[in-house]
Amino acid sequence: MAEELIIANSASKQQKYETLLPQLESLTEGEPDLVANLSNICGALKQTFNFFWVGFYLVKGEQLVLGPFQGPIACTRIDYGKGVCGASWQQKKTLVVPDVEQFPGHIACSSASRSEIVVPALLNNEVIMVLDVDSDELNDFNDTDSVALEKAMRLVERLFVRGKS
Ligand code: SME
Repeated sequence: MAEELIIANSASKQQKYETLLPQLESLTEGEPDLVANLSNICGALKQTFNFFWVGFYLVKGEQLVLGPFQGPIACTRIDYGKGVCGASWQQKKTLVVPDVEQFPGHIACSSASRSEIVVPALLNNEVIMVLDVDSDELNDFNDTDSVALEKAMRLVERLFVRGKS
């Protein structure tokens, strides 16, 4: 595992993602434990982008249950189809919400959250977890985040399978 992340503070968001993604691979490659890997991926995302909140919700039965995260304390359980996370689970796709107040049924774990992106990880076409990122600024996420975080979730899918074996 790399000892520290290399982050170019003056780089663009796109460049930061390009630098970060291979480091996520090396950060996780020697560790079989899923929780350990999800924890470090959250830490790396927080360290690189200083997101207001970043974390995983894992599918457990009929609910999403809070997993490793960085940021203020959060809701522990989200029902299928509820909130942005539950909607991403139901629709099996990335949701970018420029203004959380305009999203019907948004779950406000923190009143400071203004915009949000949720990206699912799938196994055999079933959602196994979602990555949720919240910003305290409006309209903070775009295609750059979707494309890069979807790539990160392809890694998470491989780590999930490896963690089970
Ligand atoms: N806002 C999310 C709930 C999780 S917190 O933001 C950490 C939602 O609507 O699903």
